[in-house]
Amino acid sequence: FFTGCGDNKGDSQETKASADNSKKTYVLKFSHVVSANTPKGKAADYFEKRLEELSNGQIDVQVYPSSQLYKDNAVLKALKLDSVQMAAPSFSKFGKIVPQLALFDLPFLFKDIDHLHRVQDGEVGKELKSMVTEKGYKALSFWDNNFKQFTSSKKPILMPSDAEGQKFRIMSSKVLEEQFKAVGASPQMMPFSEVYSALQQGVIDAAENPISNIYTKKFHEVQKYLTISNHGYLGYLVVMSEKFWNSLTPELQKDVEQAMKEATQKEREYANELDKEQFDLIKKYAKETGKLEIFTLNDEQRKAWKEATSKIYPDFYDKDVIGKDLIEKTLATE
Ligand code: LMR
Repeated sequence: FFTGCGDNKGDSQETKASADNSKKTYVLKFSHVVSANTPKGKAADYFEKRLEELSNGQIDVQVYPSSQLYKDNAVLKALKLDSVQMAAPSFSKFGKIVPQLALFDLPFLFKDIDHLHRVQDGEVGKELKSMVTEKGYKALSFWDNNFKQFTSSKKPILMPSDAEGQKFRIMSSKVLEEQFKAVGASPQMMPFSEVYSALQQGVIDAAENPISNIYTKKFHEVQKYLTISNHGYLGYLVVMSEKFWNSLTPELQKDVEQAMKEATQKEREYANELDKEQFDLIKKYAKETGKLEIFTLNDEQRKAWKEATSKIYPDFYDKDVIGKDLIEKTLATE
């Protein structure tokens, strides 16, 4: 098992490498928790291919999907130690490092995906990335996984009152905790890798996830109802171990940046395509098996959810949690 950068191309290469540092080879392990067939999984694989091409094989990228290497929160510690070199945790998972990233968890904050991209590509995105840099990580790029939908088994989630008393799995996020408390539900924090069996065994009643996570982890097969609610967003910040970044030559750093730029463009396309494709597959499953009912919030229901949950914004006005300034700048982004 490789631990960070090092020569891995055999003896003759090693001898050359010590004579000429620019030919040194690196192993870059990229750990994530979702399936390969998700926007994040596919973009990680694309990044692998492009960086290996651009670096002429000097960087060997190894992608580990589905929590094979690290679970949710553990990966950020591992990055700090350079035991793994790259990850793309969802924003909630930065809670202990840069809680301000929970901005993206706030329900009904974004008008649509274009608004979200303008925020990420603009001043707010820059500010958040620099907070992550200050904590000793190389912040590379924002990646999408679209808006979240509700899945449940006790009853369909239509009005906020339908959530009352139900146990919802949440990521480790104060915002998500408050979002569910605001409607009288019981939020349960749990790593992504445990959600399927918790739903199957009825340890939790319900969850919120974007379509591609629901589909690829088969959550719809262990729930009775799916509600298209688009109530909140799920996305990622791609981060690299600072030690690894600093060990690269300026040329290789440029290759990383170029591969990441292209992978980010692709990632946005994958997020859009897979959301549609995989929703069709869920609809097909529902039709064929009769085991899943699908609902879409109407305007009145959506309004009720928005009113009930956006009440939590002022709880996050303090700079140490998110900050009024960041929330207002986001809302004001044209
Ligand atoms: C979750 O825990 O639900 C997500 O963060 C998983 C992921 O990375 O999409």
